[in-house]
Amino acid sequence: MKVAIYPGTFDPITYGHLDILRKATQIFDKVVLAVAEHTGKNTLFTTEERKQLCLEAVKGIDKVDVKSYNGLSVKFCRGINATHMIRGLRAVSDFEYELQIALFNKKLDQELETVFLIPDNKYLYLSSSMVRSVYELSGELQEFIPECAVKALNNKIGEKK
Ligand code: COA
Repeated sequence: MKVAIYPGTFDPITYGHLDILRKATQIFDKVVLAVAEHTGKNTLFTTEERKQLCLEAVKGIDKVDVKSYNGLSVKFCRGINATHMIRGLRAVSDFEYELQIALFNKKLDQELETVFLIPDNKYLYLSSSMVRSVYELSGELQEFIPECAVKALNNKIGEKK
């Protein structure tokens, strides 16, 4: 059984992430969408909220589990017997940063391979921070994030006002 993790902050999860996830399920027997607790980012949503949104968003996609984790991604990977890590590559600008993470992770765990997947064209420019800032300016987001994330952003940003 080939298991991969797809780690990220998912603050919040977008259709770009779900596109990568779907592609990964075509390659692996199981894909664990891994919601990282500590990423050095100041997140809008708590880990539990990000995880719940992911759980809601992946309904209907087979072969997917959602888990949150603390600490190193490679350690989490090993703990659940995953052999591969999925990362999305959206633009050339992602490459250097992703290469650095992949090589660093390889140094930490020789057995682990990183697999890069490219999202569909329409999601190439999408990022969670773009979603958050467009939302704050009252932009329309239905096209980019699942309904549950739209609702959660509504509540969260409503709370802040
Ligand atoms: N669609 C939409 N957005 C995408 C995307 C896609 N297909 N692929 C990436 N993104 C976005 C993310 O939402 C994120 O947006 P943001 O910065 O606006 O929030 C951005 O691209 C880049 O994300 P990045 O910071 O590279 O990764 P991440 O947030 O997805 O996750 C971890 C980073 C969790 C993988 C990394 O911090 C980690 O491994 N942390 C655990 C600790 C550890 O092991 N450290 C050692 C690693 S070297």
